[in-house]
Amino acid sequence: MTQHDTVSSPSDHPHENPLEDVHNVMAPEQTEALEQLYTDFAAQHLSPLWTQLGEVMTDVPRSKAIPFVWRWNDLLPLAARSGDLVPVGRGGERRAIALANPGLKGRPYATPTIWAAIQYLGPRETAPEHRHSQNAFRFVVEGEGVWTVVNGDPVAMRRGDFLLTPGWNFHGHHNETDHPMAWIDGLDVPLAEHLDVGFFEFGTERVTDYSTPDVSRAERLWANPGLRPLSGLDSQVNSPIHAYRWEYTDRALTAQLELEAEGFPATVEQGHAGIRYSNPTNGGDVMSTLRAEFHRLREGTQTASRREVGSSVWQVFDGRGEIVVADQVWQVDRGDLVVVPSWEPWELRAETQLDLFRFSDAPVIERLAFDRTFVAGRER
Ligand SMILES: [Fe+2]
Repeated sequence: MTQHDTVSSPSDHPHENPLEDVHNVMAPEQTEALEQLYTDFAAQHLSPLWTQLGEVMTDVPRSKAIPFVWRWNDLLPLAARSGDLVPVGRGGERRAIALANPGLKGRPYATPTIWAAIQYLGPRETAPEHRHSQNAFRFVVEGEGVWTVVNGDPVAMRRGDFLLTPGWNFHGHHNETDHPMAWIDGLDVPLAEHLDVGFFEFGTERVTDYSTPDVSRAERLWANPGLRPLSGLDSQVNSPIHAYRWEYTDRALTAQLELEAEGFPATVEQGHAGIRYSNPTNGGDVMSTLRAEFHRLREGTQTASRREVGSSVWQVFDGRGEIVVADQVWQVDRGDLVVVPSWEPWELRAETQLDLFRFSDAPVIERLAFDRTFVAGRER
């Protein structure tokens, strides 16, 4: 099977695991000798497969993360209270409040691979520079006036912008206004923890460049549509573009829906436009571990139901509608965040025109050839 193909229809009973239901011929009568065997296994730090097959090898992915929603109207006031009580600076580094999936036993992770947080910076504050192995991005659902400085390159943050801080780039943030600003951070922190790959270093206490250009140096070199500098012909693992501006995202989505209306193929499915943020040096994902996309649905559009291996997080950018994940149906509004764990079916329903930002661990899943998708109605 090629991994991008759809697969056969999943079970109608997604919570039944046939590996647990089958009669296990390897479950002999409990005897003293058998108990002693298991005790001796444990004493030697050994663990038999036959007593736990259904736990360690499930029939389909069964994430410990659960489908969940966080409301922007809950997150923002809590972040603001943190702004009143907790100064930002060296040591804690960021006033970032992570979405902790209730299925993940109190760990500060949205999914088993993804960290997602709301970050809040008060008027005139600076978050000091540091760098780490973990890849990071920001997405701005509202506000402006903060610059993030990436390896000395000041990058303006404005509503609708998607900003990159790939691993091991120094970065700090400073707010040049008299009002606070909040945005979301996405990182591969849990993946880095599982793989034991994390390094961290402090940088300067203040950012290295307080200038406030509208356009970063990285954009001036790299963000000219379809034009690649001859000084940069090598493929790079992470995109050199530090900011993907809303103006271009909006223009691309608008064009897709216009082209569809004019009778030309352009959209994902009827009424559903979408773009993937890409690395201009190789056409791939923006970073090695994280994929980011933006979706726009026409008013009244409902997507097909899909399942994918790997987990994702959605944030509503504008409009109203419903996000359906497994048996949950959430009415969502601007800023709301929804987690889709691996292999849980999801679909979108737009009440008004609905704009959504999405990020996922798909580059990891695909690179390791674990990817599978299922789209209802397109079974083969
Ligand atoms: Fe950081």
